[in-house]
Amino acid sequence: MDVRQLRLNNLGCFASLDVPLAPTPQTDSNVTVFVGNNGAGKTSILKALATSLSWFVARLGNEKGNGSPLPEDVILNCHASAAIEVFVSDNSDNYPQGEGTAETSQYRWMLAKTRKGKKAAYSSQLGPLSELAGHYREMLTVNDNTSLPLIAFYPVERVVLDIPLKIKARHSFRQLDGYDNSLNQGVDFRRFFEWFREREDTENESGVSKEALDLLRATVEKDSAAWQALEQLEATSEDPQLSAVRTAISNFMPGFSNLKVRRKPRLHMSIDKGGETFNVLQLSQGEKSLMALVGDIARRLAMMNPDLPNPLQGDGIVLIDELDMHLHPSWQRSVISRLTDTFPNCQFVLTTHSPLVISDCKDVLVYALADGQLTAIPSQYGQDANTVLLEVMDTHIRNVQVAGKLNDLLDLIQGSQLDAASTLLNALADELPDSNLEISRARLLLRKQELRRAKDK
Ligand SMILES: Nc1ncnc2c1ncn2[C@@H]1O[C@H](COP(=O)(O)OP(=O)(O)O)[C@@H](O)[C@H]1O
Ligand SMILES: [Mg+2]
Repeated sequence: MDVRQLRLNNLGCFASLDVPLAPTPQTDSNVTVFVGNNGAGKTSILKALATSLSWFVARLGNEKGNGSPLPEDVILNCHASAAIEVFVSDNSDNYPQGEGTAETSQYRWMLAKTRKGKKAAYSSQLGPLSELAGHYREMLTVNDNTSLPLIAFYPVERVVLDIPLKIKARHSFRQLDGYDNSLNQGVDFRRFFEWFREREDTENESGVSKEALDLLRATVEKDSAAWQALEQLEATSEDPQLSAVRTAISNFMPGFSNLKVRRKPRLHMSIDKGGETFNVLQLSQGEKSLMALVGDIARRLAMMNPDLPNPLQGDGIVLIDELDMHLHPSWQRSVISRLTDTFPNCQFVLTTHSPLVISDCKDVLVYALADGQLTAIPSQYGQDANTVLLEVMDTHIRNVQVAGKLNDLLDLIQGSQLDAASTLLNALADELPDSNLEISRARLLLRKQELRRAKDK
């Protein structure tokens, strides 16, 4: 299932906005990224999409289900009604799951909201949505293990990282539960932990526990026949859903492996990193939030695709607001390709403030938002961060005062006012780091001019 296009009418700061989402005829990837100043409307777009898709999730649960209503305060000021229209393509009704490709069907639905006491300009049209959800319900009726499309929204407030020590109630973790809080709360580490622990309990009951295997492994020689037999035993006794999550985390965060729940000395979640075992709570905020994000996507895919040999191949739509949040620049660079490598069949709709996020992928659809308008911008692949800042994000690449002085300096050199240039150069060189390239460049230029002057004399 893919959202092909989103259309907003009088919603937030947008009077009328059409947003085709990747993949498009020009962009092969499944990734659309929005950039724009604070207040440009990035979050509004993701929220609109999440609200609209929440109706699909609700109607999967039951025929008359209601998703999140559109709140009145999102209606564009001075207008009576707002509407969100989505165009979704889906091929689940055309062929039995997993068998070849088939024609995709298109579904269009509209969710509208009118201010109290005003005449409606739009009205909700949810027929096609019910039809689409109906197909999935029919499939679920025939086959309990039908795959469902993941739909999840990770808002900026997605940092719920407390891990409960005691689990109060046992939960049900069937496919439909994969949608629990997927559109309103973002990453809930609590639920992740509970799920992980319950699955691990079952894994331990039905197979050989990891601890026991680790103990046995310590008694045999590495790569011996006994070692290999133990490896094989481990692979077959692993719960496929848990291994999907473990694989996703170690693919996404190289160097991290072996996520598990430990009961001693206290109940906690542990992960291995660089040969050491850490309590997950000891990790940095950035590490934790990435782990929670990737773990959450993987957990939901695993729940929703019980029959897929590799649930990470599951289908879905994932919305992430401010993807660069908490990430070191080197992580920002690779985060999109990690997402698409780890979850190859998910459609991603992302927002970012970071030039690095969009300059490292060849084939993403990037939109700049400003003044309620949307502009598709050419690929930024391979561009340096400064160029992206200047050309796409409309941002100075250096402190404005320093930039002004550097310009003055060049003017002085070019205007042959060499004494003044030399004074300004020395003053600037005192202020800026020794490695400043512009200063070295100016010094060379000044030297050239001085030599030329000496020659002319
Ligand atoms: N009902 C409305 N009518 C007009 N403008 C609105 C309405 N609701 C929100 N806005 C404006 O839309 C902007 C949307 O912000 P938001 O989507 O959070 O931006 P971003 O995520 O890009 O920072 C806000 O600056 C706000 O002023
Ligand atoms: Mg925002």
